Amino acid sequence: MIPQSFIQDLLNRLDIVEIVGRYVQLKKGGANYMGLCPFHNEKSPSFTVSPTKQFYHCFGCGAHGTAIGFLIEYSGLGFVEAVKDLAQSVGMTVPEQDRLPPAQRAEAQARSLALSDVMSRACDFYRQKLRGEQRAIAYLKGRGLTGEIAAKFGLGFAPDSWDGLRAVFPDYEASELVESGLVIAKDEDEGGPRKRYDRFRDRIMFPIRNTKGQVIGFGGRVIDAGEPKYLNSPETPLFQKGNELYGLFEARQAIRDAGYALVTEGYMDVVALAQLGFPQAVATLGTACTATHVQKLLRQTDHVVFSFDGDAAGRRAARRALDACLPFATDNKILKFLFLPPEHDPDSYIRELGAQAFEKQVNDAMPLSQFLLNEVVANEDLKTSEGRARAQFNAKSLLQAMPPSALRLQIVRSLAQLTQTTPAEIEALFELAQPVARARIAPPRAKRSPPMGLERQMMRILVAHPTLVAELDEAAMTAAAHLAPDNASMLIQLTDACKALGPQANFAALAEQLRVLGTDFEPLIAEIAAEPESDPEAARAELAGAVRQTKIQVLKAEMDQLVTTGLQTEEARARYRELAQQQEQLRRQAEVESTLR
Ligand code: UTP
Ligand code: MN
Repeated sequence: MIPQSFIQDLLNRLDIVEIVGRYVQLKKGGANYMGLCPFHNEKSPSFTVSPTKQFYHCFGCGAHGTAIGFLIEYSGLGFVEAVKDLAQSVGMTVPEQDRLPPAQRAEAQARSLALSDVMSRACDFYRQKLRGEQRAIAYLKGRGLTGEIAAKFGLGFAPDSWDGLRAVFPDYEASELVESGLVIAKDEDEGGPRKRYDRFRDRIMFPIRNTKGQVIGFGGRVIDAGEPKYLNSPETPLFQKGNELYGLFEARQAIRDAGYALVTEGYMDVVALAQLGFPQAVATLGTACTATHVQKLLRQTDHVVFSFDGDAAGRRAARRALDACLPFATDNKILKFLFLPPEHDPDSYIRELGAQAFEKQVNDAMPLSQFLLNEVVANEDLKTSEGRARAQFNAKSLLQAMPPSALRLQIVRSLAQLTQTTPAEIEALFELAQPVARARIAPPRAKRSPPMGLERQMMRILVAHPTLVAELDEAAMTAAAHLAPDNASMLIQLTDACKALGPQANFAALAEQLRVLGTDFEPLIAEIAAEPESDPEAARAELAGAVRQTKIQVLKAEMDQLVTTGLQTEEARARYRELAQQQEQLRRQAEVESTLR
């Protein structure tokens, strides 16, 4: 975890106009800068960058965020990587909270650099070796690849030698060679004449790159037949299979252009698809699709199509992918599943049936909702109560994994229909967080806060001017919690976040802090991002007014309550008078303030 105080310092040092300006052509227009939005296709600019708020916002697609958020969205870097990159650009060092003393930290950094260097030199070596190797070239040509695509993916060849890498690494005993997984060291006591040897021998090499384009691992395929078909780099400090997607670096621009990413299972699928007009393809690395994979993809695009073989193994892999997707299945995302005929993978399919047929498969891919429903009713006899109950049971954990959304409601509806229940019953039975069906069908509550919601107004003001949290005392918080119990915890989260930022707090820093707390605050942030900056003094007065109104409402609620009981006792009447007095006081205060202004 990077401390929030560091994020705040960093945001204060950065200039979002300069950072966005590296990637987007910006023109000054009024207080803001305008340009063509890099996150959706448009002809006239609706993308604005505010130097005062240090925030960007697109009126076309709603994209918004800080300089850090921009770099994450634009380049696909992870949060930590983006922060490190930006910090470096202004000469700051990200404090690592892993309690490593500085000397050790420097050493760890140096080692990681050394590993990176070893990988990139090995990659160059393999590429160069491919040029002279007719057998390997013939194999790749035989699979329909051109030199251009081979170059794009940096394909190479590991020579048939036990120590081919010695040619690039004269110090073959260097520890980095083993640590990077390129060289295998035999246990001393196993003896034998050779203690160290190249992991990859006589194989076609597929370099695996991270999103920055650095080589972090390799996959090596035998030419023609042999076991194992693919040999992969082991897990190293640079490379964790469950986090990486093959081809993501090469596909980034294509994913943007196509508007979606295509996820396959194999190295060859990615390369062959790129060759035949689908450069937006990536692959998991012989592992099931993980939540990290999904997250990485959704940083690049809102639309992901997973492709699987039609056989049982493909079906199982698809189910794992479904599970990984559910927590991210919000209404603005499109997640689809494509099942090829059992005998095919994408590579063989597109070669045999052509790009058009494959395109049709992509267009006809099954939406997540349908796949989910298929999964839960498969093997159940919906004509019996038991079968319907089991289908519901199967759906429970899947629906619980989804965020509350219109999509979840749609699935609940369909499931209700299939199992002869109602959406509200299913939500109740499954204890779904923030039920959607129930909320929609319930009659509006009798005494609900005013249209705008005072607590919402308070939250809006705080998001725009986090330092105003100092104006909220205990009584104000209690009153707000009384008035809007549903939003009380959100308000507390927000005030805590504002307090944590301290007296230097501002909108951009708070937005970064709220990102950690989840999506509840997204709509508020989007709203504030889209508005012209409000005057802090006016905001302070507005907040004071909102707090007062909140207190008045709470008093009024208790008075109404007393009236309905008939004010029978002296005690009740005394309490009523007391409340009326307090209310009067607040009203008078409000009048004084409004005449002062
Ligand atoms: P496939 O066997 O489907 O490979 O395995 P492929 O990509 O279609 O390869 P070709 O077309 O036969 O050349 C899918 C993925 O599983 C991993 C690799 O990542 C491969 O791309 N795998 C497979 C291994 O890691 N080792 C193996 O021995 C086999
Ligand atoms: Mn294949």
